[in-house]
Amino acid sequence: MNVTGKTAVITGASRGLGAGLAREFYAGGMNVALCARTDPALADDGERALSMRADVTDPDAMASLCERAVERFGAIDLWINNAGVLGPIGMLRDLDPAEVRTHMDVNVLGVMNGTRAYVRHLRGAGRGGVLMNISSGAARTGYAGWSAYCASKAAVDLLTEAVSIEEADAGLRAYAVAPGVIDTDMQTLIRSQRAEDFPSVERFRQMKRDEAFSTTEHVARELLRLAFGNDQASEVRVDLRPGR
Ligand SMILES: NC(=O)c1ccc[n+]([C@@H]2O[C@H](COP(=O)([O-])OP(=O)(O)OC[C@H]3O[C@@H](n4cnc5c(N)ncnc54)[C@H](OP(=O)(O)O)[C@@H]3O)[C@@H](O)[C@H]2O)c1
Repeated sequence: MNVTGKTAVITGASRGLGAGLAREFYAGGMNVALCARTDPALADDGERALSMRADVTDPDAMASLCERAVERFGAIDLWINNAGVLGPIGMLRDLDPAEVRTHMDVNVLGVMNGTRAYVRHLRGAGRGGVLMNISSGAARTGYAGWSAYCASKAAVDLLTEAVSIEEADAGLRAYAVAPGVIDTDMQTLIRSQRAEDFPSVERFRQMKRDEAFSTTEHVARELLRLAFGNDQASEVRVDLRPGR
């Protein structure tokens, strides 16, 4: 698929899935606009890579990322709200309420901030686009120890569905994508948990022993196919099949 010259915004692009997507898209000839709280994986090259430090919990920072991407590239074909956190992990009865609030701020309000910036741009510009909010299988299955994560990802699914209806007449296609299991820092954190805090931990340690992960290259290909290919999903919620 030829994606040369298309533009993608990716939040949480300093490491893990976001960094991998940024590298794959850029190598495929796309323009990328990236953010994270630390430096994104690609430095700003003044041309096809725009890179900035920004926290998704700051709505003005998301508006600024959007503005700068439009200034540089003219239009945004694909916006991926990928930034996310897993913790706090543990039984809800033991969690620190302040940490739960911070989690929701990043995983729910952060996605809403990015989504809002993008759909406001699309309406203003009178053009359509594709939104992908990175969800998880944990949006649909409850795991002991992950109450915050399950709740925030379920919220991502439903907020994406609501916005897809709100913005359909503006030409938005929106997806909440469960990317599969990818061996990032988030997986390292999962494997380091005590079973009393996360009873399913052994399943994830076994995945490491089996190297049973999807790669960011595979996820990048699948997302581009969903965004720009012919076999576009009709459902908002998409579970990527595992692959390498
Ligand atoms: N890995 C998996 O198996 C898996 C499975 C299902 C879903 N997911 C989802 O995929 C996404 C990426 O996960 P990952 O595994 O790549 O995680 P990761 O390795 O922990 O990376 C998370 C990224 O998000 C950024 N980030 C965190 N808080 C941020 C904030 N407030 N503002 C801006 N950026 C922020 C981090 O950068 P800074 O720290 O520099 O800000 C980092 O670049 C997440 O939404 C996750 O829930 C992952």
